[in-house]
Formats: sequence, C-alpha cells, structure tokens
Amino acid sequence: MEQRIRKAVFPVAGLGVRLLPATKTQPKEMLPIVDRPAVQYVVEEAIASGIRNLLFVTGRGKRAIEDYFDFAVELEYELKNRGKEHLLGEIRGIVNSAQIFYVRQKSPRGLGDAVFQARAFVGEEPFAVLLPDDIIMSDSPCLFEMLRLFAERPGVYVALIEVPHSEVSQWGIVSGREIAPSLYLIEDLVEKPEPYEAPSNLAVVGRYLLPPSIFDALAETSPGKGGEIQLTDAIRKLIGKEPIYGYRFVGEYFGVGSKLGYLKANVAFALKREDLAFEFRAFLRDLVERGII
Ligand code: G1P
Repeated sequence: MEQRIRKAVFPVAGLGVRLLPATKTQPKEMLPIVDRPAVQYVVEEAIASGIRNLLFVTGRGKRAIEDYFDFAVELEYELKNRGKEHLLGEIRGIVNSAQIFYVRQKSPRGLGDAVFQARAFVGEEPFAVLLPDDIIMSDSPCLFEMLRLFAERPGVYVALIEVPHSEVSQWGIVSGREIAPSLYLIEDLVEKPEPYEAPSNLAVVGRYLLPPSIFDALAETSPGKGGEIQLTDAIRKLIGKEPIYGYRFVGEYFGVGSKLGYLKANVAFALKREDLAFEFRAFLRDLVERGII
C-alpha cells in the first residue's frame, strides 16, 4: 500500500433520474454549473491533486463526455480565426495535462459494479474514485487533502460530511472515532440505513482512496440496497484487513445530482466568479429587497 496514487476513476454511467427531464437526452454530468459541465469540477479537482490518469466509467448516452474532453478541431479553427481561441483553452489544458481513458458499464448494476469496471485500468495500485454528483468548494481540494493523509497513513479513505439525522437514508453512513482533527478511524459502514439503524450521522461523500484488493471484495459482494452492487458493502469487507479512515473535509458541499443541489451550486459558483459576481450579487440583493426571497 505504500504507493503514490496516480489514477482516478469517475463513474458517470448513472441515469440522472432526479434531474429529468433535462437528462432525457443529455448526460447529467454535462449540465452546466455556471458555464462548465458539472463533471469538469471533479476532473479539475483530480488534476489539481496531482492525478494525471483518468478513467471514466461511462454507459449508454454518455458520448458527449468523451467529445467534451477532446480537441474540437473545427470549432477551435473557427475560434482562432475570430481571435477567441482562449474560450476553449482550459479544456485543451485538461486534455493536454491528463491521459483520459473510457470503459463502458454495460448494465446499471450499481456504483460497486461501475468501480469494478476499472479493474484492468487500475491493476495493482491504490487509486482514487470521485463521484461527479458530489462537488466540493474548498480552498484546498478535498482529494488533495486525502492524498496528503494517505501519504502519512496509508489505508482506505472516504470523505465525510455531517448530515441531518432525517437524511441518513440517502447516504452511506459510518461509525468510527476521531483519532486526529478531522480524521476518523472507521469501524463500520452501512449503505443508506433507516434513521433508527444508522450508527451516526457521518455520511460518505463521493471521494474514495481504495486499494486494489477492493476488486476481489467487489467480486464477492452480492446486490445490496436497491438491488445494486454497493461500493459501501465492498469497503465493509475490507474492515480488519486494511485500516479505513474518514476525512471530514473543510468546504462547501453540493449534491448536484438533485435539482436543489444543482441550483445551489450554480448560485455559489457564480458568486465566486470575478466576471459575474458583482452583477449577480446585485440581482440577488434586488430579489431580497423586493421581498421575493
Ligand atoms: C453513493 C454511495 C453512498 C454515498 C453517496 C455520496 O450513493 O453509494 O454511500 O454516500 O454516493 O454521494 P448515490 O448517491 O450514488 O446513491
């Protein structure tokens, strides 16, 4: 396990049911947050954390993601003629600074099954998993902080957030004890428990550092909650074999797979943008002054 993490896996095969009808003909990961597709935020987090080998686990209807992380020769030519090539510069930057791979999950059998598709790409090294539905706004990227902890104390890592007790059934929930500021040693994990069976209100957010042994664990994991192969159940199988840590991150979380989370992310990221914040803030203030909010 004393290895550097060089690879990241992005499961993007999900149907996006909670964002219908927008996701009927468009991957949810391509819906814009301000002016960048949602998936770009987590890809940038991985790259900012020093990871250069990226695997997307895609599915039917997700080709727009492949086209996005590619050069658009004709469009770039046109933009160059108009002196606007900077408009696509940042995507070119991503494509140039990362090696991007794709594999398809053939049937929607759950997050665990999606991660299992990464086995050949990952090989025998620890790796990161980032869920594009979970966007974290923070000074230092959440994944970067997890990698820093991993370098000091190798093991399995998940990111954690405190959620209201009434919402535990929407999350993977852990029990554990805090062994250093913001760092937990996890004793158990349960996928989407009912509030009465939840061991705590500490929820797993979609950032994981996993050992290659997760693939054997996944192979032995039967369908769990919702009839799907759950990553949480496979991580649970590693208890006692590997130390499992939780990192309670510092930052603002947005669950952009839901309409409300998606809207909140748009407002929060727009307010961070130098080119938009001033007028956007004035617009919001006006809504408050007129009693609309
Ligand atoms: C998945 C995981 C869950 C985790 C969540 C974070 O659930 O199964 O353990 O808490 O991501 O977003 P999903 O939201 O895909 O149903």
